[in-house]
Amino acid sequence: MPLNRNFGMIHDENYWQQRYIQGDTGWDISHISIPLQSYFDQLTDKDISILIPGCGFGHEAIYLVQSGFTDVTALDFASAACDKLLDSKVAPPLKVVCEDIFLHIGSYKLIIEQTMFCALHPSQRAAYVEKIHSLLALGGKYVGLLFATHFLKEGPPYGGNSKEYLDLFSQYFSKVSIEPCYNSIAPRKGNELWINLKK
Ligand SMILES: C[S@@+](CC[C@H](N)C(=O)[O-])C[C@H]1O[C@@H](n2cnc3c(N)ncnc32)[C@H](O)[C@@H]1O
Repeated sequence: MPLNRNFGMIHDENYWQQRYIQGDTGWDISHISIPLQSYFDQLTDKDISILIPGCGFGHEAIYLVQSGFTDVTALDFASAACDKLLDSKVAPPLKVVCEDIFLHIGSYKLIIEQTMFCALHPSQRAAYVEKIHSLLALGGKYVGLLFATHFLKEGPPYGGNSKEYLDLFSQYFSKVSIEPCYNSIAPRKGNELWINLKK
């Protein structure tokens, strides 16, 4: 029986902003996620347009720019997160956008998933996946990590399983790959899925 699906609430930017102000950022792993690092390291075209929604402190964005990627956009609607990232002085060419993803307009070849999907209430998921799909250029990819478990506590984070994700993603994407993640960081081992979806 899936837990944690039909309760909880939609959290706006004030909720997330307060969590940053209070230092209540237990999701932040303080470095780039290892599976994403491995994925980025094998990309050969460093000029593809990349969006990182719900970037938080932006460890993935910083890594990409420092690795020579030239078109990286980090987006978050919590100004405290954006300000910290701007303070890191990585820009340019890093673009930091402080905006609600649902209002964002753009076209990207690659959109990264790292604890953004799980931050949304499950009732927002279909709209989110539709939005991500609309932000991708034809042939573009949505790649990253999802939790492979339902959480007992009220979210965020909100979890799920492969079947639920597959049912949702296959409504929008022509190619959907969802696999257990083999190189998760230790605290998330066995609890993550690696997704690679193509428009
Ligand atoms: C759980 S945190 C993850 C942050 C970062 N990805 C990480 O792994 O450290 C979720 C982030 O998504 C942001 N967020 C949630 N809903 C959003 C929305 N609708 N538009 C933009 N950012 C959003 C929050 O402000 C927060 O920074």
